[in-house]
Amino acid sequence: MTIPVITIDGPGGVGKGTVCLRLAQHLGWHTLDSGAMYRVLALAAQQHSVRLDDEKALVNLAVDLKVNFEPLADLSGTRIILEGQDVSLVLRAESSGAAASKIAALPAVREALLGRQRAFRQAPGLVADGRDMGTVVFSDALLKVFLTATVEERANRRYKQLKEKGIDAKLDDLVAEIADRDKRDMKRSVAPLQPAPDALLIDTTIISVDKVMARILSVLELRNL
Ligand code: DC
Repeated sequence: MTIPVITIDGPGGVGKGTVCLRLAQHLGWHTLDSGAMYRVLALAAQQHSVRLDDEKALVNLAVDLKVNFEPLADLSGTRIILEGQDVSLVLRAESSGAAASKIAALPAVREALLGRQRAFRQAPGLVADGRDMGTVVFSDALLKVFLTATVEERANRRYKQLKEKGIDAKLDDLVAEIADRDKRDMKRSVAPLQPAPDALLIDTTIISVDKVMARILSVLELRNL
């Protein structure tokens, strides 16, 4: 029997990570934060003085990358260990997302990370979030969800998160950064950010995570999954 996968795709700041975790907790399944894989490779590149446009060197780095994804005991998230160091916090910075988005546009880099992502498909099931989970990596997924929200709302959420952490940020800068990353992710030649034709589209601009969850669970029920 094939191991079931649910994919949650969409742009940054749309709530994919939260929905992915909540759904995995509900079902007792594993999670894959594929964006973290691109982020961690970009970080490793910076630490090893590899340029973010050196496709060949990035592929070599990806093949040998010593990275572990360790689910926290309370299942509230994942600790990411790169070459023995906990890099979970560093990876959340917007600069890390921007670097990830740059290397993610390189076809050979995507290819090099494909096997690592598919290895997360383990019993009893997987909830995977990213940009191309439903279109490329797990195109046979049981259910494909695509979340959207306006750039302004996503920037607002990010602004609040940063404020809570005591980090200074300008809303206008966040809007510009998010729009920039969206453009790069949507315009790239391989696996661009777009909904799979059979994806369930949910606009999260004005609805809560609880409502998004309720919507997904009702579709699972309707389809007898
Ligand atoms: O989801 P995130 O913000 O952690 O992703 C960081 C970047 O990684 C994103 O801007 C594009 C890239 N990415 C990708 O190309 N494909 C994925 N499946 C996940 C992320």
